[in-house]
Amino acid sequence: MKKISASFLSSKNIPVDLTKLNDTDVDFIHVDIMDGKFVKNKTMPFSEMKNIYKYTSKRLEVHLMVENPSKYIPLYAELNTECIMFHVEVEEDILKDLELIKSFSIKCGLVINPDTKVNELIPYLPYLDQVLVMSVYPGEGGQEFIPETENKIKELKELIKSYNLNILIDVDGGICDSILDKVEDADILTAGYYIISSDNYQEKITSLR
Ligand code: DX5
Ligand code: ZN
Repeated sequence: MKKISASFLSSKNIPVDLTKLNDTDVDFIHVDIMDGKFVKNKTMPFSEMKNIYKYTSKRLEVHLMVENPSKYIPLYAELNTECIMFHVEVEEDILKDLELIKSFSIKCGLVINPDTKVNELIPYLPYLDQVLVMSVYPGEGGQEFIPETENKIKELKELIKSYNLNILIDVDGGICDSILDKVEDADILTAGYYIISSDNYQEKITSLR
């Protein structure tokens, strides 16, 4: 059975939506962080974002869409965080940042954009607990799933197998019940708009498992 992570990026009322999600069996809350540089949009500063602990007791998966993960890792490691993931496309020293995450005894992951080849992940595979495959261009919620992601997930699965590693595959963007045949090899599905825009969160979450 797949695990489900809920993104609240499209939420118009975060306290209310997180409270509603807390009453479901969703596995993780997916926290999207944008710096206005790596992607155009910007999310609220950590001083405000850290207050989400008031509304959820779920473990957090942190998705850093930022140029400098090293500035954000120590902050988000403070929360009830299961995993911190940042983009393989960043200019920072990736191994150093992965080690920084590990130093907080938190799972680490890399995120791969639609136009980036899975081979870019090879040097880091032995250090990874998780890979987040973007199935939309990062930056906003509510976009449509890019169909080519299906092959990319298969390629990644083969690559991980060929190295005999145990790395979870998480897919993020445009996830809904009509594209499930394209994400069969994923271990975790991250969904935002599909859940948040509905009036029955649990029903939508169950439909993705
Ligand atoms: C996109 C974000 C996603 C997104 C998922 O840049 O990383 O987490 O909000 O939401 P939906 O399911 O609306 O595409
Ligand atoms: Zn995300």
